[in-house]
Amino acid sequence: MADIPTLEDLEGALGGLDGRRILVRTDFNVPLDDDGAITDDFRIRAALPTLNWLTERGAAVVTASHLGRPKGAPDPKYAMDAVRARLGELAPGVELRENLRFDPGETGNDPAFVAQLVDGIDGYVNDAFGASHRAHASIVGPPQHVPSAMGRLLAEEVEVLLGLRDKPKHPFVAVLGGAKISDKLGVVEALLDVVDALVIGGAMCFTFFAAQDKPIGDSLFEPDQVDTCARLLADARERGKQIHLPDDITGVDASGTFAQFGSRLGPGSKGFDIGPGSAAAFTDVIMDARTVFWNGPMGMFEDERFAAGTRTVAQAMADTKAFTVVGGGDSAAALAQFGLDGDVDHVSTGGGASLELLENGDLPGLAALRNSTNAENGATS
Ligand code: 3PG
Repeated sequence: MADIPTLEDLEGALGGLDGRRILVRTDFNVPLDDDGAITDDFRIRAALPTLNWLTERGAAVVTASHLGRPKGAPDPKYAMDAVRARLGELAPGVELRENLRFDPGETGNDPAFVAQLVDGIDGYVNDAFGASHRAHASIVGPPQHVPSAMGRLLAEEVEVLLGLRDKPKHPFVAVLGGAKISDKLGVVEALLDVVDALVIGGAMCFTFFAAQDKPIGDSLFEPDQVDTCARLLADARERGKQIHLPDDITGVDASGTFAQFGSRLGPGSKGFDIGPGSAAAFTDVIMDARTVFWNGPMGMFEDERFAAGTRTVAQAMADTKAFTVVGGGDSAAALAQFGLDGDVDHVSTGGGASLELLENGDLPGLAALRNSTNAENGATS
């Protein structure tokens, strides 16, 4: 990180910020309800330290973000109006451009679109941690043209997440959930190098069960990942790492009635959450750890019948004395739903980005800043 220019470096490179026009790439990709209202403004609030620091120094701040995945053309569903209104309340005077992904040049990293982005701009700040794993125009382009820096949020995210890779306090436990192991394979393999134990819940546990030849009824699983899961289990065993899988499951039986099972599910039944015994066992592992990283819910927590496993793990994250990091996306939403988001040490604003940083130790957005026009002489800290 020492080779990435900071806000102070940018101020030095520009000889002060008063009257300078600074483009800040933020990740304002916030959840919206059916009426287009913001349901969680966490990502907007997370950018405030950088925005305030710049405006306090007299900079004219222009922010730009993507919202959702429009197909390279304007789409009213993904217009920035609601975000602009909320930003206006939180950071008056800060501009917000229209959704970057309304132009195909953003995801295509088109040089002509980069030129438009930096037109009239004196400096660039990347504070969009959640999008820094994308080699998109607004992430990797501006540092080639104007003095650039990482914002406060980006710096904090990188420090916390690389700290997990480089110097975690042991025992270090990673709690992984969500539907698909295929989305997380790279990070699981990287984490096996540093963790003492992996705790696995969510629908991905059924692919591991299948690898152990346990019947899973009609539960969701990934048939093409069964061999990979078998290899991961063998690899973990060989390296002396513990893998904790659920011993009981909550779901529905073949008639669709709410039911609890052991770790073998009968024909027609479906698992939607870890059971109470597993939730208690996972809690013990989390309480005994000194570092815990959690990514992915333990079950379908949006449905109250299947929220208990995720709620119990969230509560353990809040209660443990360990250093606790939650990796964005659904697990952050779950924490917020249970009112526990203030009770963990770090909630990442990035889902995919946090996993990719843990896996690779770097991101395209960080590499771009490292190679920015001012980086050679500018980076001092
Ligand atoms: C996210 O929500 O994870 C980031 O905003 C990135 O969005 P994307 O997956 O659509 O690139």
